[in-house]
Amino acid sequence: MDALFDDSVLPRQAVSPRPGAYHLPGWLNLEAQRWISQRFFEWGQGPVPPHSPIVAGHPMSVQTICFGWHWSPNRYSRTADDVNGSVVPPVPDWLIELGRRAVQQATGDAKKARDYAPDAAIVNYYAVDSKMGMHQDREEIVNAPVVSLSIGDSATFRLGNNEHRNKPYTDLYLASGDLFVFEGPARFAFHAVTKIHPHTAPAGCGIAAGRINITLRQTGLG
Ligand code: SIN
Ligand code: MN
Repeated sequence: MDALFDDSVLPRQAVSPRPGAYHLPGWLNLEAQRWISQRFFEWGQGPVPPHSPIVAGHPMSVQTICFGWHWSPNRYSRTADDVNGSVVPPVPDWLIELGRRAVQQATGDAKKARDYAPDAAIVNYYAVDSKMGMHQDREEIVNAPVVSLSIGDSATFRLGNNEHRNKPYTDLYLASGDLFVFEGPARFAFHAVTKIHPHTAPAGCGIAAGRINITLRQTGLG
């Protein structure tokens, strides 16, 4: 595990599109991407199958798997009541550890990284025609970082302001292996995925088409 996520694979400088938001391109090497992709295919076996959460009466275009807490719009629960009622598995330890490293690398704040205790992971699979509309991650009741890892096809990720869905926003290109962290003044930024770029998944990342995104969150729930 330590070799797989060795610090030598993390040489790049964070780019900060706005205070509290950090983009680290190529943060995961191909071997780590492939290893996580393998876990993703295992996770698909359950206990809760991938599903499309219903938002405002319409299924999202992504397929979702949850850890720690089951996310459905506006609430977290321990059981996937809108799928099959099963208890969701805990967030894997390696993912919590990777999240701490992500916070350390992105912010340079050792205390913030040490204190980071993500208790929810939301794994989304985007087919090439999937999108995610502008929204805030706001079911969490503490202002701890959100850590986002991307594998597979690249995406256009829209990072907005904290007030509303409209401009000003910045469009970023999140490629396979990229880390994105939003925290502090950017924690409640509106954000969206406006496009998946087909045929951009690098050979060897473990997934031929579509995009895996994992977000880690600390809910503050007991
Ligand atoms: C999300 O907003 O939860 C996912 C973001 C992404 O797919 O990059
Ligand atoms: Mn989100």
